[in-house]
Amino acid sequence: MSKIKKRDSWGSRIGIIMAVAGSAVGLGNFLRFPAKAASNGGGAFMIPYFVSLLLLGLPLVWVEWALGRYGGGFEHGTAPGIFHSVRQKNRFIKYFGIIGIFGPLVIFTYYGYIASWTLGYSFFALTGKYASIFDQSTMQAFLRGFQGIEINQYFNSLVPAYIFFLVTFIITIWVVYYGIKGGIEKLCKIAMPLLLIFAVILLARVFTLGTPNVARPSWNISNGLGFLWNPDFSALKSAKVWLEAAGQIFFTLSVGIGVILTYASYLSKGDDVALSGLTAASTNEMAEVVLGASIIIPAAFVFFGPMEIKNIAASGVFNLGFVTMPLILNNIPFSQVFGFLWFFLLFLAGITSAVSLAQPAVAFLEDEFALTRKKAVAIFALVSFTLSQGAIFFLSRGVVDELDFWGGTFFLVVFATIETILFAWVFGMENAWDEIHKGADIRIPRVYKFIIKYVTPAFLFVILGTWFYQEWIPIIVMKNVSLENRPYILTTRIVLLAMLIALAIMVKIAWRKRKLNKAV
Ligand code: ALA
Repeated sequence: MSKIKKRDSWGSRIGIIMAVAGSAVGLGNFLRFPAKAASNGGGAFMIPYFVSLLLLGLPLVWVEWALGRYGGGFEHGTAPGIFHSVRQKNRFIKYFGIIGIFGPLVIFTYYGYIASWTLGYSFFALTGKYASIFDQSTMQAFLRGFQGIEINQYFNSLVPAYIFFLVTFIITIWVVYYGIKGGIEKLCKIAMPLLLIFAVILLARVFTLGTPNVARPSWNISNGLGFLWNPDFSALKSAKVWLEAAGQIFFTLSVGIGVILTYASYLSKGDDVALSGLTAASTNEMAEVVLGASIIIPAAFVFFGPMEIKNIAASGVFNLGFVTMPLILNNIPFSQVFGFLWFFLLFLAGITSAVSLAQPAVAFLEDEFALTRKKAVAIFALVSFTLSQGAIFFLSRGVVDELDFWGGTFFLVVFATIETILFAWVFGMENAWDEIHKGADIRIPRVYKFIIKYVTPAFLFVILGTWFYQEWIPIIVMKNVSLENRPYILTTRIVLLAMLIALAIMVKIAWRKRKLNKAV
């Protein structure tokens, strides 16, 4: 006789909202968003960004919250089982769901490492390790030394970075081990308000920076904000800006990844998803376009001006956060305290997202293989730790960018397309609309019925189509990868493919076991 294990659940409504907001508010808000916005010309980025938010982001938020809660009712916490619950007669549908475990696992393998840099830099800020650096190239060298890309006066090995990685990894695993209510919810209830306080303090400090470059009075805070908020309609013709804006919306809201499905699966049938989803998404947007945008961009603007900020952002997604920001803070009183606030804010944002990326794989093992949480977390820790080594040791070979492209960009759009089609067309839009509104505390404007059914899938197909048309061949043949990096990129792709195959086999085994159990 098989014992039915009771699934974990959220302790309170505010708990799940904080947890989903914690998943969404991450390095994407404070590092990726400013870098994308600035490198795409500031104001040129914001129109596609908001259009993507309304036509892709919000619909997907509701689709994932509703689908997740629906699948949770069948004791499934991850996409294979959730998809299977939607159309039980179809034998293949569950295999599409493996992307919802693959994606977060792949992102986890590099995201956790990057989050660990922020812990390292919090420590360096407090101890004054980079306090005497006042120019871009030396600060860049400090970062490269820390990343193990070069040996210099600051770092002669990867050991410090590895120690911070281990600490961050252990904290993440420890939180996940304590479960939904006892670990993730508790962490997010403390980390999210703290993050907000740190961000508001930094914001107040940035807004009182004045005009540090007296020779350039136009480099001031209000022009810094104008850099982002003065719309530039000419860029609407650029497919690249649209793709980057849509990609940022996915990444920042944590949609198309699989984590919201899993988090929502721990809700009860009558729990609201319409208002909770909207609240968590709004919290993320506030953290992104109000806090994320108003700290780094105006600060960099008053010190470096409009041309340089674009160049810095275009030179690498981490440069604004890990090079420019510490340089700026080194120029103000109490620099060590403000440096700590900045990097620890990033750490809090990163760790609350990292735990959400870990949960789908853990839930998959618990729900589909009836493993105890202890065993599921131990297996996840072993696998993800092993996979993370590639990101750590071969960062300079482009492995992180490759993982981010497949796990954090391409499969995200593919998965979002599958989910939307499944929900709006296979489950049926009438059922989907009813499902979203079960126990709902708000009515979603009816126009979203039309948007979810037609506009969101069409938008997703256009994005995928453009990608295939413009980039498929060069990406497959590694046209933009240097000759010496190709073996590393190829190996990464083989590992990713092996992960997909392994997950498909696991789904097959889990369903066969289920069938046998039923037959007994
Ligand atoms: N949504 C998370 C972030 O923005 C992954 O970093």
